[in-house]
Amino acid sequence: MAAYLCSLLAVSSLLSTGNCMPRRSVSAPALPLNKLASTVATALPAPTGSPQFIALGLGVQNYTCNSTTNTYAAAGALAQLFDATAYLSYRPDRIDSLSQEYLDRYTSFPCSQSPSSDIKIADRCEGLANSRIARPLPVLGEHYFTKTGTPSFDLSKAAHDPFLYSAKKANATAPGTGNVDWLYLASNGSSLNQVVSSVYRVETAGGVQPKSCSGSGSISVPYAAQYWFY
Ligand SMILES: *[C@@H]1O[C@H](CO)[C@@H](O)[C@H](O)[C@H]1NC(C)=O
Ligand SMILES: *[C@@H]1O[C@H](CO)[C@@H](O)[C@H](O)[C@H]1NC(C)=O
Ligand SMILES: *[C@@H]1O[C@H](CO)[C@@H](O)[C@H](O)[C@H]1NC(C)=O
Ligand SMILES: *[C@@H]1O[C@H](CO)[C@@H](O)[C@H](O)[C@H]1NC(C)=O
Repeated sequence: MAAYLCSLLAVSSLLSTGNCMPRRSVSAPALPLNKLASTVATALPAPTGSPQFIALGLGVQNYTCNSTTNTYAAAGALAQLFDATAYLSYRPDRIDSLSQEYLDRYTSFPCSQSPSSDIKIADRCEGLANSRIARPLPVLGEHYFTKTGTPSFDLSKAAHDPFLYSAKKANATAPGTGNVDWLYLASNGSSLNQVVSSVYRVETAGGVQPKSCSGSGSISVPYAAQYWFY
């Protein structure tokens, strides 16, 4: 899909071709599980094969305060997914820094704390942040949670509408501080799932809740991550 968008852009515009890479055969990069501390590296299973899509996810992790324990409990997430497959295949050296760069742009806008629940509105903060990156990435879809708490991925801009209702299978402490766990999620068995069947959340930046809270309010913490789909 990214390559298709690129060729469209290339013929329709003499302006910057944005995310489009010079024509050159590149293979998908390797999932960077080797960056995890050796003590947690085995917490996530190694992938089989090459990723079908690498998405840059930008949005919020939500938490609700538990007034009994005075700690925040995870309450889902909402993120826009940008297609970084072509970019990171061509620039694997950027795997390490891309999430933090997106998060920094994102949190420079006041609206980054509360994205619209309608992820399709073009002018919200996620799109604005993407537009200010040197090579903006094409929109790929969105990541959201259903009312019953199922982590869902809708890659609606890619061919054959890849879709995944998932379940968390494994987590590992992220490198650095203040970054949400790296995860492995796989299909929850839904017959609506298609094209992709599992996803790793890696290279996380931000998204961690404060240590304590009072009352029963909810918060949204901005984060960026890479979602590698298999
Ligand atoms: C708050 O935490 C307590 C203790 O872990 C748990 O029993 C309770 O169900 C939690 N409340 C909510 C609303 O999740
Ligand atoms: C997360 O919070 C955002 C607003 O900050 C909201 O639009 C979204 O629906 C919330 N998602 C979940 C699963 O709570
Ligand atoms: C996985 O998540 C659980 C629950 O949040 C946590 O207790 C555990 O330490 C995490 N494991 C790793 C390896 O980070
Ligand atoms: C998967 O998640 C969806 C959305 O929450 C749910 O409707 C479905 O029952 C779940 N499991 C299966 C096996 O489809």
